[in-house]
Amino acid sequence: LTGHPVLVAATAGTTDSGAIDPLPALADVCAAHGADLHVDAAYGGPLLFSDRRRHALHGLDRAHSVTLDLHKLGWQPVAAGLLAVHRTSRLDPLQHTADYLNSHDDTEAGLPDLLGRSLRTTRRPDAFKMAVTLRALGRDGLGALVDQVCGLADTLAEKIHHHPALTLHARPALSTVLFRPADADDEQVAAVRRTLLDDGHAVLGRAHAQGRLWLKATLLNPHTQPGDLDRMLKLVEGHTPR
Ligand SMILES: Cc1ncc(COP(=O)(O)O)c(C=O)c1O
Repeated sequence: LTGHPVLVAATAGTTDSGAIDPLPALADVCAAHGADLHVDAAYGGPLLFSDRRRHALHGLDRAHSVTLDLHKLGWQPVAAGLLAVHRTSRLDPLQHTADYLNSHDDTEAGLPDLLGRSLRTTRRPDAFKMAVTLRALGRDGLGALVDQVCGLADTLAEKIHHHPALTLHARPALSTVLFRPADADDEQVAAVRRTLLDDGHAVLGRAHAQGRLWLKATLLNPHTQPGDLDRMLKLVEGHTPR
């Protein structure tokens, strides 16, 4: 309550557009004001697996804490959230002692004590599936999948950019592409999305940006082919009222 910020929460890969905050500049501001930097890298964090794309996360190493969700660019079933801290002492507030769980003499005798790792006492072994995936695919294997879906997003953005009846919001920072039929109003954009969903043809998201509603394609399936993208764009075009 002394009037200066204690924590800045940045995002590396927003849910709406995949945008990445300027991490080095935010880290500088935090350092200047003595604030901690937390980065929500739930979506964008796995860019680290890709040698070609990890530069987009420059500055992430200056965060005091980082969250990651490997149920997105990690291809895990939920739940797959991770919290990384730059010093394990950051987890000290989670340390609790309950005699029936981690009595001092047991801990001193070397019995494992997981109480300090989570807010929850009872938890599923979520880390296991992530460890298996990392062991099976390796960092390079995951990096190749990340490259694949981000490349698909670039391809889709290029197709939309050259499409006479569609407007592209921005070049994708990650694997999300926002677009809309050029002449439609927001109600029509929302209706196109619902129709494609109701008909079972395509599951597109929606996002507000620049005061307008956009269709959102979040590309996370590495098996998607450019032809699938063409078909999806044709469906959007075909369902837009003229
Ligand atoms: C950027 C971002 N942060 C946080 C979350 C929420 O994470 P969780 O579902 O693990 O609570 C999401 C979506 O899942 C997200 O896209």
